[in-house]
Amino acid sequence: MMISITSGKGGVGKTSLAINLALALAPSLRVLLVDGDLGLANVDVMLSLAPPVTVKHVLLEGRAIKEAVVASGYGFDILPAASGVAELAQPDSEMKGQLELGLKALAREYDLLLYDTGAGINPAVLWFNCLSDYILVVFTPEPTSITDAYALIKVLFRDYGQRNFLLLANQADEKEGEQYFAHLARVINRYLGFTPQYLGAVPKDFELEKSIRLQRPLLVRQKEARAAQAITRLAERLKIQLALKDFPQAALS
Ligand SMILES: Nc1ncnc2c1ncn2[C@@H]1O[C@H](COP(=O)(O)OP(=O)(O)O)[C@@H](O)[C@H]1O
Ligand SMILES: [Mg+2]
Repeated sequence: MMISITSGKGGVGKTSLAINLALALAPSLRVLLVDGDLGLANVDVMLSLAPPVTVKHVLLEGRAIKEAVVASGYGFDILPAASGVAELAQPDSEMKGQLELGLKALAREYDLLLYDTGAGINPAVLWFNCLSDYILVVFTPEPTSITDAYALIKVLFRDYGQRNFLLLANQADEKEGEQYFAHLARVINRYLGFTPQYLGAVPKDFELEKSIRLQRPLLVRQKEARAAQAITRLAERLKIQLALKDFPQAALS
């Protein structure tokens, strides 16, 4: 099973959510968190890790993908990206082919591969999303974040036949999240002709910001924080959703 965590607009909270969702899921699932921002590593920085082998060594120097996998120290594993390697920001088709084979091999050893992607509609982001069984789109109540989420979904649906979307409102309270989701779902329904699923909301929480500065995940530092409780609930919902597999089949393209 592969799920991408993605967004139209940058800085909406993908990496923080990916790390904390991985933590919440790790006790019951074997999780590999893949840093999908290949040229600009995020995940290892947020966890204060310095992985010796990264995806750069795999794609550019012929190392085996398994050599790059490291334990996060929190019950899940990480496939780290490279920091500041421009070639990897736009992987060519040979690199993508190699990476796809590697990821599919790794997927056999885990219950879940989580892809923390970059933002927007650049080819690498679209590629990770198309590889995934489910696409978790993060948005915030900012108008630009919502229009960019719609734009990303539109491209993935129209041009790539994807329709297994799960929406997550970050930095929003429950009511706000539902309102913005309803708005987005109406637009998607009217213009694209399908209804996306809603995973839920994670509130704005100073403890989450603090966790990033301290490079220690919120779910480790402050399990009782509002955002931590919300993420724990969403992880449970995600597990149920995955078990039900009640998504509409992705259109064949
Ligand atoms: N729920 C939240 N509450 C408070 N701040 C948040 C929350 N989610 C994200 N942030 C802030 O947004 C910034 C960007 O988060 P990050 O996870 O790096 O986003 P992305 O991976 O989408 O670029 C963080 O530094 C953090 O300060
Ligand atoms: Mg990020």
